[in-house]
Order: sequence, then structure tokens, then C-alpha cells
Amino acid sequence: MSALGITVALLAWVATLLLISIWKQIYSSWRLPPGPFPLPIVGNIFQLDLRNIPQSFGKLAERFGPVFTVYLGPRRVVVIHGYKAVREVLLNYKNEFSGRGEIFAFQEHKDRGVIFNNGPTWRDTRRFALTTLRDYGMGKEGNEQRIQKEAHFLLDALRKTQGQPFDPTFLIGCGPCNVIADILFRKHFDYDDKMCQRMMHLFNENFYLLSTPWLQLYNNLSSYLRYLPGSHKKVMRNVSEIKEYVLERVKEHHKSLDPNCTRDFTDCLLLEMEKAKQGPDPGYTLDSIAVTVADLFFAGTETTSTTLRYGLLILMKYPEIEEKLHEEIDRVIGPSRIPAIKDRMEMPYMDAVVHEIQRFIDLVPSNLPHEATRDTVYRGYVIPKGTVVIPTLDSLLYDKQEFPDPEHFKPEHFLNENGKFKYSDYFKAFSAGKRVCVGEGLARMELFLFLSAILQHFDLKSLVDPQDIDLSPIAIGFGKIPPHYKLCVIPRS
Ligand code: HEM
Repeated sequence: MSALGITVALLAWVATLLLISIWKQIYSSWRLPPGPFPLPIVGNIFQLDLRNIPQSFGKLAERFGPVFTVYLGPRRVVVIHGYKAVREVLLNYKNEFSGRGEIFAFQEHKDRGVIFNNGPTWRDTRRFALTTLRDYGMGKEGNEQRIQKEAHFLLDALRKTQGQPFDPTFLIGCGPCNVIADILFRKHFDYDDKMCQRMMHLFNENFYLLSTPWLQLYNNLSSYLRYLPGSHKKVMRNVSEIKEYVLERVKEHHKSLDPNCTRDFTDCLLLEMEKAKQGPDPGYTLDSIAVTVADLFFAGTETTSTTLRYGLLILMKYPEIEEKLHEEIDRVIGPSRIPAIKDRMEMPYMDAVVHEIQRFIDLVPSNLPHEATRDTVYRGYVIPKGTVVIPTLDSLLYDKQEFPDPEHFKPEHFLNENGKFKYSDYFKAFSAGKRVCVGEGLARMELFLFLSAILQHFDLKSLVDPQDIDLSPIAIGFGKIPPHYKLCVIPRS
């Protein structure tokens, strides 16, 4: 065959492939929700702002409505926007959309543990985690006492700064880190412990990197990008290092396991593993236990610690709000007793401020991706099994009707005209339904108790004029990442 013939044959072949791919796309999207027309391979990814995908979703919702389809690379994604649709998907279709969409940077956790598990073991592992966390959360040595005990260590560490400027990231992070470490491995880290600092650094770095444009691209085009150098490799190395650390703790526990006296969450999982050895179901392995514990370790540390850190920055920008909190704390708790959960009933302003911090910072704007577990008819559309479904949370937290002037920090969003706490069903920072955050109760308790304890003892002092504090996140993706800053804490007389 001549060179011309080969060229024509090749061109015809490429054209046929392209036509087949377009036809397939049209056919499979026949009854899908509407959305922008996708390009082959990259889909709609370059029609979105990779520095702020949640905002791009908002704009697409204005064009296509509350339920629309986008292709992130080759992945078909149905985005759910706004209170009515998100609530429907999370609560009325809780089984159909309870799968977990893949997050490629967490390959190592795929289909194990809780967070990234889209396999058959998710349901049992989640149930077991919830019951065990509940058991450790109740009773004499329950979560309230655990957090109160930790609050003393946190306050001591803050006193040691002696009014000098410091970066709160790891100092404040030690509080939530020790609370979850106590539940998981009955471990308490000193505030300058090198290993604790290392773990927090890895959690923090991953949360940041996962929110950068490159990781948005990588998570959706990983089959093309995985061999390239880039920060996705760093994220994966960090994930491995965290898991290795946890695996070592799990092995230590295994060696000293006493079936008659479980010390912590890890022991409970190990005991379950030992029991299952006698039955037909293989159950847990040391490795899958390590993934489950690692899930809770970083989810339990990074989220709460980032919320506290962002919260302190917000309070420095609004000293009048900080002052009202001081007044409420002095009136209800006084100067010496450690804050308790029962105080929340009498502290509507603090309760409202904590909710408003979580609303305003919108920590996980696009939620974690869900996945359709079967072909599902929803609002007349057919959403095929395996489709990624994103029930956005920012569309509720920034709803203009429910929270007038949502771009501004206003505790009044959660207060009624009598100054009492006002519940809002739009507050879904922890999501809802079958995949709802496992640590919601613990996180809420930590935020209230730690923040109350800090403000009971200290005035916050900004290094810049409060008016010049910029609250904009430095990255938006997997999470919204607060700006770096330093502050001083001045003991209250
Ligand atoms: C301010 C603190 C926190 C926020 C804003 C938060 C938010 C979230 C969100 C949005 C999800 C995804 C839910 C979904 O897929 O629909 C989630 C899942 C999860 N969270 Fe949290 N979380 C926080 C604290 C915690 C804590 C303290 C723990 C551990 C004790 C924890 C453990 C988990 C786990 C294990 C999942 C996965 C649930 C599953 O896939 O079944 N989180 N969280």
C-alpha cells in the first residue's frame, strides 16, 4: 500500500474511533441530567476553574438547574446543587447514592477502611467504627472528660507562648490530635513530640495539596497523569507514611492484646479480627485495620483543627464578637471551672458562633464524592450505576435565602430575635444520610469545649489591624484552606 493509502486508512480509523466515542457519549447520556457538551478525554474539566471548582459548579447550576452532568476527564459526574435536591439525594435516595466516588490520590485506602471504601466491607466497617466510637464516647471516661482533660494541656501550651507571636497550626492541632489518638490507641503526645508534629504536618500538607488545581486535575485524569512527576506523588507518599505509622501501632497492640480487657478502638478491631478467624468470613486483617484507624486519625485531626484555626482568625477580625463571647463565658462559666457540654444550653451566642464558623469556612465545599450503587431513576433522569454523584454542601451553607448576606460572617444567622439559638436544616457541614460524618458528635463537642476554654483564659491579639485580616482561603478543592497567620494570646486577668 502506498504512503498516501496508509495515511488515508489511518485518518479513517481515527475518525471512526472519534465518531464511536461521540456516539457512545450521546447514547449513554440519553437520559442523564443536562450539562455542558464534553470534549473527548478531558470532558468539561477545562471549562471549570480548577482553582475554585465549587464556584464553577454554582455557575453551571444557574445555567442547567440543580441537577446537572459534567465530565471531569473521562468520569461522568452528576452534581446536585441546592437544599431541596441535596436533601433528597442524601436522605431519600440514601442507598442508591451511598457509594464512594474514587479519589485516586488515596489508592492505598481504596475499598478498605471507611472513608474511601466503595466495596462490600464499607457497611460493616462503618457500623463497627460507629458503635465502638460511641462506646468510647460515653461513660465516666467519655468524650467530654477526654476533651476537658486535653483542654488543660492545650491551655498550658498556650500559656507557654508568653504572649509572643506563634503559628497556631500545630499547637492548636495537638488538641484534636490527642483526643482522637486517645480513642484510637490510648496515646497522649506531648505538644512538642516530634512524631506528633510529623503526623500533623502530613495531614496538613495533604489537605492543602488535595485542594490545589493540580490535584483536581490528577484526581480526574489519573490514568494519563500518574507517571508524571508532581505533587500527587507527594500526597501518595504522605498517605503511605501515615498508614505505616498506624500499622506499627496496630502491630504493637496485636502483640499485647488482652481479649478480656480492650484498651482502645484498635484493640476492639483486633479482637473482632481474632473472633472472625474462627468463622467462615476472613474479616479484618492487620492492614485493613490500619487503614480504618488511619482514616479516623487524619479525619479526626485535620478537620477539627483547621476549623479551630480558621475560627480564631475570624474572631480576631471581629473583636466585637470575641468580646461578646468573653461576656457570655464569664457570666455562664466564670473564670476557673473548665467548660462543660451542659453550658451550651445557656450559651446561645457561642453555639451560634461555632455554627457560623463552620458555615462560613465551608470546610468541605463539594462534600466527598458519592457514587450510584445501581441504575437509579431520579427526577425523571436515569443515573447509571457507577456514576459519581456530588451532593454539594456549599450550596446549602451559602444559600442566600436561608443565610442572608452569606459572604459575611454573622452569628445572627443562627440566632432568633430573642437571642436564642436558631436551628437551620441547611446546616449540613457534616453532610447527611448513610455516609454522614462518623465524627460529627465528637467534632461538635471539641469545637465548643476547646473554643470556650481558649476564650475563657485568653484574649486573642492579631499582629495586623483586624480590618486588614483577609479571610479568603488560600486553596479551594477537596477542602477550603485557611491563610497562614500568627497570633498572640494574652492571659485574661
Ligand atoms: C469539623 C469537623 C468535621 C467536618 C466538617 C467533617 C465533615 C465530613 C464530611 C463532609 C464527610 C463526607 C460525608 C459524605 O460523604 O456525605 C465526612 C466523612 C467522614 N468523617 Fe468527618 N468531619 C469532621 C470531623 C470528623 C472527625 C472528628 C472524625 C473522626 C472521629 C471524622 C470521621 C469521618 C469519617 C470516618 C467519614 C467517612 C464516612 C463514610 O464514608 O461512611 N470526621 N466528614
